[in-house]
Amino acid sequence: MTRSATISLDLSAAGATVSPRIFGTFVEHMGRCVYEGIYEPTHSTADATGFRGDVRELVRGLGATIVRYPGGNFVSGYRWEDGVGPRENRPRRLDAAWHSTESNAVGLHEFADWAETVGLELMEAVNLGTRGPAEAADLLEYANHPSGTALSDQRRTNGREEPFGIRVWCLGNEMDGPWQIGHKTADEYGRIAAETARLMRFIDPDIELVVAGSSNHEMPTFGTWERTVLAHTADLVDHISVHAYYEEEPGDPASFLASSVGLDAYLDEVAGIIDDVRAEHGIARPIGISVDEWNVWNQTRWNEVDKPAVFTGGWPEAPRLIEDEYTALDAVVVGSLLISLISHADRVSMANLAQLVNVIAPIRCEPGGAAWRQPTYFPFADAAHHARGRVILPGIDAEVLETARYGSVPSIASVATIDENRLALFAVNRSLTDAHTVSFTAPGRVISAHVLAGADGDVRTTNGPDAELVAPREVEVESSSGIHTLTLPPVSWACVRVELDSAALDSVAGDAL
Ligand code: AHR
Repeated sequence: MTRSATISLDLSAAGATVSPRIFGTFVEHMGRCVYEGIYEPTHSTADATGFRGDVRELVRGLGATIVRYPGGNFVSGYRWEDGVGPRENRPRRLDAAWHSTESNAVGLHEFADWAETVGLELMEAVNLGTRGPAEAADLLEYANHPSGTALSDQRRTNGREEPFGIRVWCLGNEMDGPWQIGHKTADEYGRIAAETARLMRFIDPDIELVVAGSSNHEMPTFGTWERTVLAHTADLVDHISVHAYYEEEPGDPASFLASSVGLDAYLDEVAGIIDDVRAEHGIARPIGISVDEWNVWNQTRWNEVDKPAVFTGGWPEAPRLIEDEYTALDAVVVGSLLISLISHADRVSMANLAQLVNVIAPIRCEPGGAAWRQPTYFPFADAAHHARGRVILPGIDAEVLETARYGSVPSIASVATIDENRLALFAVNRSLTDAHTVSFTAPGRVISAHVLAGADGDVRTTNGPDAELVAPREVEVESSSGIHTLTLPPVSWACVRVELDSAALDSVAGDAL
């Protein structure tokens, strides 16, 4: 059946400004993300640097803004020096994090150059698993110090005259996780993170530092980890990370579709902890939340089936690891998670969809073959291209759905942004059965409207090298007296853009427009 829903937008209540960095991504030396992903020198579209042209074009189209690199779990055993200097001298190493062999054909220089060509700001992680402050400081000096020291001159000899000027640095990765190389208690990690942060700031006071929060909301140490780590570092860091992956419990797509309710709670709890610690320690410096790994990921399959096989196999180069094939349903969940991130723009300073190519990624490709967009590509691209300016948190009047995991949730989730005279509205329909005719008020003219749903209503539809079955399609919007009405099919994502009448802009609060 078709139901009705109303999204109420109060333009006078436009709030926080969305940081473009919320639309970040993540490239790890893992599986086929780098090798056979962005980098494949023998591919017909590869340029002189060995990076694939077809993948590069899809990355550009995605509209991501910042890229976290080079891990992930990988970074906790990584020696950055292995990846610089003449390729023929670079060592092959075991990567214990992913039971693979790392050739080091791609390192800081190649990756930074590539990131520049696709318009991505580089966000670099340092190894606090097997290494510590000294090696992190060396990497920072190598990357950001202009010249006249052994490390900065080594960079220049290696082909980069000007500093890389990397601004955002992650102090290790998921150090709360027993699976992490160099896993630590909160106190152990807090201490080493503080020492590293202090030393790095001595070298380059302009950097922004991200301290590692919990690996997920269900970690037994969640909460105490954040409080302890921030007690050590709150006066030294700019962001604390949140990692959040969601999957469908067998037979419970309704709860899966409500995953953003879980993310909302996770973000609110971390924000509360930040406030408590800052108040307790009298910290004036703001601390943002860096959701620097988030996505849909079938982790149960990875942990129970794929990982045991990978870790008892050999040490292959670029094995196929967690190449999840996403469905229309997954894309709608990704859309709802984006709505949660945008809605928390007052607290979320950065976020990185994990990962970019092949590994739980919006872009897939085959060696010597095609590159294609997974369904999850599209809501991300919509948000990255159109969520600009200030956030409007709407009132939602819609059917209430019962879920096993999150209780009662509205069938419609939505958020809007306003930038000069442009309003962008993002919405999902979580209902598995019912279309929704959705109305919202925004005095002005609709300039584009599209929805994304499964082909012929099949939420399990996927895309592949030969067929892009899940892609946005234009949808009709009925507009009358500034009220716009469109129909969202069951399990769908929508993006509508409106050019506002100048009279409507008078009611927008503040001076940011
Ligand atoms: O993104 C895949 C892995 O997930 C990352 O390496 C790790 O940080 C997280 O557990």
